Amino acid sequence: MKNFISVKDVSDINALVAKALSYKSNSFADRNLGADKKIGLLFLNPSLRTRLSTQVAAKNLGLEAIIFNVDKEGWALEFEEGAIMSGTTVEHVKDAAPILGQYFDILCIRAFPTLNNKAEDYSELVMQSFIQFAGVPIVSLESATLHPLQSLTDIITIKESMNNSPLGDWGKPKIVLTWAPHIKPLPQCVANSFAQWINAWGEADFVITHPEDYELDEQFTKGAIITHNQNEALKDANFIYVKNWSTFTDYGRIYCNDPSWMLTPEKLIHTNNAKVMHCLPVRRNVELSDEILDGPNSLVTTQAGNRVWAAQAVLSEILNGK
Ligand code: CP
Repeated sequence: MKNFISVKDVSDINALVAKALSYKSNSFADRNLGADKKIGLLFLNPSLRTRLSTQVAAKNLGLEAIIFNVDKEGWALEFEEGAIMSGTTVEHVKDAAPILGQYFDILCIRAFPTLNNKAEDYSELVMQSFIQFAGVPIVSLESATLHPLQSLTDIITIKESMNNSPLGDWGKPKIVLTWAPHIKPLPQCVANSFAQWINAWGEADFVITHPEDYELDEQFTKGAIITHNQNEALKDANFIYVKNWSTFTDYGRIYCNDPSWMLTPEKLIHTNNAKVMHCLPVRRNVELSDEILDGPNSLVTTQAGNRVWAAQAVLSEILNGK
């Protein structure tokens, strides 16, 4: 693996999931793989899980992780080609990235979308600039349109839950991605990425449900059944992935914010005792009810814990590919 930006960088999803689960049972199996190597974690936006799980994963592989909160401590970066830098930006990515490529063996970057410039966000300008100029492998810690480490974690968690099920033979699980209300316009990254990975994985019946006007980019959702009827979507579901996103077509807005879209225990009745997932952080009793989050069907803590094994599997693949 050269870079980890999307599912397209993965040749075999099930093999990567198996590797992650093997690290979960034996965290230090490759404790010297990254010896004498350094990984830089650049955050242009906040994080709890991604930052700490990637740091732990790096340590498990013997890598030294150095974190830089660019948004708080660094120079404001410019990404536009040919920019006249007479405004707020201080350093061009063309100058910064090659230097970081000399300091680190792997560079990981979190950079959220603007949510006001759709063309720029969907061109993945920030991530592509680092790929172009850094000269070392780049790992996305969530980009303008995708969150691949989260999506790998989500499939790990689904597979693990299926393996642990006393029912044994699942056949194809029904997985539902449902939109949830929120107070702020959020990126489409997690939903895009989940859809892209579940479609590429191809081992589930996949349904996406959301209110009208919340259609996601078809390049990620193609292959899924899409409906505006949440109750119909949830029928017989085995896994429900709850996430808010802002509008894609009329970019970055909140249209409907109907609280009845929040998942509650009553909505689980018609599912197949579905497990409930969310990437976190979650706004309790806005996106998901306390009863669900604190109840037996919630996988969110296991899911967040699995972030370590996803990151470790990806870093291991990159180190082995070097
Ligand atoms: N799910 C996720 O990426 O969490 P953080 O934003 O805390 O890293």
